[in-house]
Amino acid sequence: MSTENIRDVMRGGGDRFIYVVSAMAALNGLLFGFDTGIISGAFLFIQDSFVMSPFVEGVIVSGAMAGAAAGAAIGGQLADRLGRRRLIFLAAIVFFVGSFTMAVAPNVPILVAGRLIDGVAIGFASIVGPLYISEIAPPEIRGGLTSLNQLMVTLGILISYFVNFAFADAGAWRWMLGAGMVPAVILAVGILKMPESPRWLLEKGRTEEARAVLNRTRSEGVEEEIAEIEETVDKQSDSGLRDLLQPWLRPALVVGLGLAVFQQITGINAVIYYAPTILESTGFGGVTSILATVGIGAINVIMTVVAIALVDRVGRRKLLLVGVGGMVATLAVLGTVFYLPGFGGFLGIIATASLMLFVSFFAIGLGPVFWLLISEIYPLSVRGSAMGVVTVANWGANLLVSLLFPVLTAGIGTPSTFWLFGLCSLVGLVFVYRFVPETKGRTLEAIEDDLRQNISMMD
Ligand code: BGC
Repeated sequence: MSTENIRDVMRGGGDRFIYVVSAMAALNGLLFGFDTGIISGAFLFIQDSFVMSPFVEGVIVSGAMAGAAAGAAIGGQLADRLGRRRLIFLAAIVFFVGSFTMAVAPNVPILVAGRLIDGVAIGFASIVGPLYISEIAPPEIRGGLTSLNQLMVTLGILISYFVNFAFADAGAWRWMLGAGMVPAVILAVGILKMPESPRWLLEKGRTEEARAVLNRTRSEGVEEEIAEIEETVDKQSDSGLRDLLQPWLRPALVVGLGLAVFQQITGINAVIYYAPTILESTGFGGVTSILATVGIGAINVIMTVVAIALVDRVGRRKLLLVGVGGMVATLAVLGTVFYLPGFGGFLGIIATASLMLFVSFFAIGLGPVFWLLISEIYPLSVRGSAMGVVTVANWGANLLVSLLFPVLTAGIGTPSTFWLFGLCSLVGLVFVYRFVPETKGRTLEAIEDDLRQNISMMD
């Protein structure tokens, strides 16, 4: 791209500006991924610096998830009240404060506080990133653009593996944790230059500002889109958490909550957070297993790119069905391989390949499509709050799995743990087939209209 073109894009050259806006907002995803991934490496060295009880160790690792659940619980309402852009700014500031606090923590209580603060920011970011992009994107490319956020989550995880690796020799855990301040500053400064979500503006009656944003992010159809959004705004009653319980919203709530829980109880973070431990048990040495972990991180990124390329063409449902179906198959293989006697050698290679395939199937299905769908299927008036509730469920399930995984493998053994994840995936597959609607290529207002009229959105 020439400098002129770049300037043109920055000024708002037609619909290309939308890519700049989405990429900037997707930094939320980068921080989410980085800050969840970095602790696996940093933790090894934190243990050398402070004397801690096992309980406190657990709090340091999973504190971010608990914080994220809290952040998601208030983030949804904040997104509806403050606006999407201001919440992104706030998330960036909180990220910065959390990372800074951890980097300079003189003792364990301050470290824990930093981790919790960081978690709150992760919770904000996990809602507002996809929410903002989905509302500002044109329908034909909304899936791909919104999934940019998940791409950045996977990239953030991969970068955290590299940063861990880079500082490992020096044991510099403060630098590892402090590195999160860099993207936080870029996000805080960058988002101020981005426009507010046109849908949120229209809901607040700020029509002229919404028109200006749409003019910058669309090449055509601005007036039609305004009319369509305004019509939806007119139909809505007061928003609030109680409204989520209205009967016509129930199907969308079931879909969101179901996907939130299945995204986690099918075991992705057992692999993402514990990959080196699992790989070492396949007979690999320490260095090889760290390298293989980087491989897992890389494949997660690559397959998310594939999902982005496909999601607006083949649709959400098909990706989910193939993705979850593949997870069932690879988990069955993993359970079997770990069960066989004389584990190691060739079986170790099969186990590693299956782990990589498992992550690939997650990355083309449940990874991006969950976050995408929950930013599409809720009516404007309750979108922030609904995403909040669903995201809290996601973080709650994440916390549960990451706390329970070591307990499960010690209790029922590794093969049974994988079989259990496989069983959950099988139930998830039936759930997707039975309940998840197709939203490809439709405006958010048309999706809402269907929900009101209780028309099935299945393809
Ligand atoms: C999930 C995270 C997971 C990540 C892995 C996200 O969609 O919500 O829990 O660690 O994907 O790529």
